[in-house]
Amino acid sequence: MASLDSISLFSNCGAGDIGFARAGFRFKVLAEIDERRLEVALLNHGDASGVAGDLRQTWRKVVATYREQCGSVRPTLLSACPPCQGMSSARSSRGLESDAAAGSRDTRNLLVEVVAEVAREVRPRVVVVENVPAFLSRLVIDPASRQAVSAAALLIRLLQTDYRVFPFLTDLADYGIPQRRVRSFLTFIRRDEPAIKVLERADVVPYPLPPAQDAASNRKTLREALADLGAKPLDAMTPATARDETNPMHAVPVWGNSRQYRMVAAIPSGSGGRAWESSQCEKCGQVDVGPEDAVCPMCAAPLLRPVVKEEDGSYRLVKGFRTSSYTRMSPDTPAATITTASGHVGSDLTIHPFENRLLSPFECAYLQTFPDDFDWGEALEQWGTTFVRAIIGEAVPPKFTELHGRTLINLLEGKISELAHETDARVLKAEKRLNRLAGNYSTSVVGAIQCSQSTPPLDDMDRVLMETERLSQGLPCSVQAPRGNTGQRLPGPGVTPQTRTILG
Ligand SMILES: C[S@@+](CC[C@H](N)C(=O)[O-])C[C@H]1O[C@@H](n2cnc3c(N)ncnc32)[C@H](O)[C@@H]1O
Repeated sequence: MASLDSISLFSNCGAGDIGFARAGFRFKVLAEIDERRLEVALLNHGDASGVAGDLRQTWRKVVATYREQCGSVRPTLLSACPPCQGMSSARSSRGLESDAAAGSRDTRNLLVEVVAEVAREVRPRVVVVENVPAFLSRLVIDPASRQAVSAAALLIRLLQTDYRVFPFLTDLADYGIPQRRVRSFLTFIRRDEPAIKVLERADVVPYPLPPAQDAASNRKTLREALADLGAKPLDAMTPATARDETNPMHAVPVWGNSRQYRMVAAIPSGSGGRAWESSQCEKCGQVDVGPEDAVCPMCAAPLLRPVVKEEDGSYRLVKGFRTSSYTRMSPDTPAATITTASGHVGSDLTIHPFENRLLSPFECAYLQTFPDDFDWGEALEQWGTTFVRAIIGEAVPPKFTELHGRTLINLLEGKISELAHETDARVLKAEKRLNRLAGNYSTSVVGAIQCSQSTPPLDDMDRVLMETERLSQGLPCSVQAPRGNTGQRLPGPGVTPQTRTILG
């Protein structure tokens, strides 16, 4: 292969790009709005030049910087992970997923336009975009056509003349990442690449198969992952017990003998339990209480539950989601998704499964599969633990991008390694989601799609999605992997040709 020179947009600390680099790609330019993040990224990509700033203003500089280094040689890979914060519809201010006007008000949702600008200029052989699942379905207004489309569909439209797109929606735990992390991917391959024919002939898509056939057997539990890491046990009670003096990344917030500490300590170790369910009164011990009770029925003291004191002196449970906040991670499944909020006890599933504390940044980085030799420079000392937790939480696990990167390099060399079949549930789910709020763009972007199948059964990935996104909108579309070769093949202008069913 002539060159594996590559460009990264929205690089964060360069974590996902480390996986691509391990597969063989060489990043020549990294671009990131946050100079601190870029500084960390550049420590880990020695060949790369950095372009700091808002890509809406700096994308031409990205192109110029690449050309200064590589001349007219086209990059092999453009890797881009636009920010996902605007995609969620969990907060009412962002509007429903189907509210395109609200989607466009958060201009971060239109940053895919920058990806298309750079791709059109430098014409990479492959473009890989990673994001949260809502990227496939959260509607925005297409600035050109004024139609409601998802951010993903907008990017597909912008690149469809030159690229064929392959969507994918997977729980990365299926690939041995010790964490439930459901993410969407779009891999674009230039239409003149011989790889397109290779994929078509074999009915496969440019994504790796999980290492073992049965995805469930690739899953690593949190118990196993923490045992492998072998980090020193910590306890949030005192400054001395809350940190490992030999490892500054292995430290947690000190709670002292606070109510918060006692509330966490009251959740049985290894139970995956919730403080919301605690029936512990600090004075009376175990008491008989209902799910809405905030105080002990015997002595009226607040229970060891998340409670607040009202102005009139009474207590009530804290408002909010009770399924995952103030909850220990379960040891016998992969870890819960590592987020930017791993330093908050009231955020989703941030409590250590056995010990009375949060996970440390060291543990979070391990669960995100950062390599042991990741160079943090002075990030922790200069910018603090909240910053480090945020960049860990936003990273794409490099273990997955390494697998994906190897797949892509093999494919560009004409080799078909173990690739996912085009009827893989991960492909079907991605397309289903792309068509979820179908309307006008199911035909204009994804293509006319035929239907005659039924819905795949609700599986683990669906459940994680529902838990993590709390989206309660109905799904008008129903798909299932075709059995045999019975369906009619109708290639859309953008998406890989498939046999699909859209009902309703
Ligand atoms: C999801 S993270 C990327 C993760 C990265 N691929 C990794 O594996 O570490 C998105 C990044 O985009 C950056 N970003 C957000 N808005 C931006 C903009 N307008 N221009 C450039 N970077 C931006 C954020 O600071 C954040 O680091």
